[in-house]
Amino acid sequence: MEPVLDPQEAITIDAHLANGHDRSLAEDVLDGLTRPFKELPPKHFYDARGAELFDRICELPEYYQTRTERLILQERAGELASVTRAAELVELGSGTAAKTRVLLSALHEAGTLERYIPLDVTERMVRDCAESLTAEYPGLRVHGVIGDFERHLERVPDPIGPRLVVFLGGTIGNFPPGSRRRFLREIAALLGPEDHLLMGADLVKDPEVLERAYDDAQGVTAEFNRNLLRVLNRELAADFDPEDFEHVALFDHEHEWIEMRLRARRAHTTTVRALDLPVRFEQGEEMRTEISAKFTRERITADLTSAGLELTDWLTDRDELFALTLSRPTAI
Ligand SMILES: C[S@@+](CC[C@H](N)C(=O)[O-])C[C@H]1O[C@@H](n2cnc3c(N)ncnc32)[C@H](O)[C@@H]1O
Repeated sequence: MEPVLDPQEAITIDAHLANGHDRSLAEDVLDGLTRPFKELPPKHFYDARGAELFDRICELPEYYQTRTERLILQERAGELASVTRAAELVELGSGTAAKTRVLLSALHEAGTLERYIPLDVTERMVRDCAESLTAEYPGLRVHGVIGDFERHLERVPDPIGPRLVVFLGGTIGNFPPGSRRRFLREIAALLGPEDHLLMGADLVKDPEVLERAYDDAQGVTAEFNRNLLRVLNRELAADFDPEDFEHVALFDHEHEWIEMRLRARRAHTTTVRALDLPVRFEQGEEMRTEISAKFTRERITADLTSAGLELTDWLTDRDELFALTLSRPTAI
């Protein structure tokens, strides 16, 4: 019989965002909205409404990424469990951990899994996930970390055994190339010689397919993009009218990445009152809200290598839409 842990014993939550998150939003707004080409980082999309909209995006027919990544996981989870023999799974940007359950189940069945460590900026997600997973997997401990993976990786608790770090959803593509490699080095620092990183990467493909995935017919992605303005209104007392902006998704052929932007429908000035900052938009002016880089096997291998990681397995679907990379620290 499986040991059943008291929920109080099974769940630990560390929060590192008390006021820090607000400060990072204010800093990003001050920095990003005073540049000649305005820009905000995508991590601020995810308030409760943003997280709910992202869940709806994952179900859209145009958004092939989620179902393809899930399919690959379903086909290969048993093998991943036996190769990694992971006692703990650390997940960066864990969200609702919907796809992660496929891996957790395989590791649970293999009898190696002891602990799950979800790290996400969205507090509600980390807490809900801890409660549901400890109920679903008897004996599992969950040590949730409410934090920013760009600032709080060193807060991930020390390992208790072989570790598998997972970074799903193609979120690595949100980093521009230079900071992507720096971030991969930070992830590599979480790994011992026997540990592994499993990372999702969206692959280069027909630009029309890509643009449709970020500009769906129902307009859910457009709402998700404009939700960023609602976050600024609420958190920093800004006075954006989201309807003053239209959603733009375009494939940048040179960099091979998708850009999401918000384009001002009319010339106007908004004020971010908490920062006492007037922000002028000309008609048609665009503000970048996300890049989502698309990868080839060569590009992701080079990024991993530069971070001291070696690719040990390349898991992809039949149509090569999406890939999961399995890597481990390069033996010295
Ligand atoms: C694109 S979603 C992916 C969610 C899930 N891993 C998946 O594959 O469907 C990105 C997730 O990462 C979280 N996130 C984004 N930026 C973050 C950051 N800087 N630190 C921690 N979590 C972040 C969001 O809250 C969201 O849950």
